[in-house]
Amino acid sequence: MTQTFDRIFRHGEIVNHDGRHQGDVGVKDGRITALGDLSQASAGEVVDCTGLTILPGVIDSQVHFREPGPTHKEDLESGSRAAVMGGVTAVFEMPNTDPLTISPETLADKVKRGQHRMHCDFAFWVGGTRENARHVGELERLPAAAGIKVFMGSSTGSLLVEDDEGVREILRYTRRRAAFHSEDEYRLRERRDLRVPGDASSHPVWRDVEAALNCTRRLVGIAEETGAPIHVLHISTAEEIPFLAEHKRLVTCEATPHHLTLAGPEAYEKLGTLVQMNPPVRDAHARNGVWHGVQQGIVDVLGSDHAPHTLEEKAKPYPESPSGMTGVQTLVPLMLDHVNKGRLSLERFVDLSSHGPNRIFGIAGKGRIAVGYDADLTIVDMKRQETIRNEWIASKCGWTPYQGMTVTGWPVGTIVRGARVMWEGSLDEHSRGEPVKFWTA
Ligand code: DOR
Repeated sequence: MTQTFDRIFRHGEIVNHDGRHQGDVGVKDGRITALGDLSQASAGEVVDCTGLTILPGVIDSQVHFREPGPTHKEDLESGSRAAVMGGVTAVFEMPNTDPLTISPETLADKVKRGQHRMHCDFAFWVGGTRENARHVGELERLPAAAGIKVFMGSSTGSLLVEDDEGVREILRYTRRRAAFHSEDEYRLRERRDLRVPGDASSHPVWRDVEAALNCTRRLVGIAEETGAPIHVLHISTAEEIPFLAEHKRLVTCEATPHHLTLAGPEAYEKLGTLVQMNPPVRDAHARNGVWHGVQQGIVDVLGSDHAPHTLEEKAKPYPESPSGMTGVQTLVPLMLDHVNKGRLSLERFVDLSSHGPNRIFGIAGKGRIAVGYDADLTIVDMKRQETIRNEWIASKCGWTPYQGMTVTGWPVGTIVRGARVMWEGSLDEHSRGEPVKFWTA
């Protein structure tokens, strides 16, 4: 009997848990229903992927899409448009919106706003605070919750739990893996005067290696004491890497494309406040250290930390300028370029951007090219050369720190639950975003 599919992605090079092999992916009702040679099968549509590489859908587990609140910078629609234009099939969005995402109501509001308005699938981090600490165990299990996120150092927005006792209280009640912005607020306060007006290159002097390292040491100590699994976001120092490696039983961590691609002093000379980010882009030593973490398997996932601010806001003189840069759309192109330059294998990229989130956050049915899983695919042309341009950026902010950079490797198609949401740079405007499901919830 011939098999029937809604869609077959034919003759691609599939990269998954099985290695790399030429083959077809058969999709029905939004799921992968067969892999292999499907040349005898019939389908509503056959998508020729000759010369292309089929990856599991890329999951960006750290983005800031600003809705509700400062939606002049971004909203859930525009941020997710940027995601799918860049080959990302699901995002986990951060709680520093206005109002903050810290209660069942504010989470449900975001889910309602995102459903069938976002172009990719989504989950939302819920902010951990002193006030909701006793309820985080319930909050983290609500539909579409990615888990609990805690800011230990202040950044954009008012979320902050800087003290050990506050963090301990939250980790007493979490069961799922909680995510942390790890910079030591006490040290940041002490060193504020080191910020040089008008000079963004003083940002990493103020928010120094010790600020990140001290905080990560304190945080990991509390995790060990409470037995709670934690995730350290956006690792920016070489020094945290061997420390994290000692604590892999409970601790996972994230690297960002900007900490792997940019480094001072050049980045600050060229980009000024555009490269201002928390935790900061540092020097080549730090960048090499984070790469070491990627190469040694210590880093678990990649997140873009897409944190849009308008060019007008970024044009304010440092330190009045806000921290953050766009990133969700450039994650795949930048990382494919790193693959082509031999800094990581394509298999390791898949491990970081799909298998990693599936494994550490307990995502149900996403993050693998496997029969029974959602048909989320990132289809790329590993040989295509493109120059990244501000005009290509779909974020409301319309700029990228990588403007003018030529990369090799480019996302050609974004497939969300079987649908071609982006193909060859064109967006299918029919938005179908749905909440990501978790088996840990
Ligand atoms: O630079 C940053 N910007 N780091 C953060 O942690 C928050 C983000 C934002 O929301 O702007």
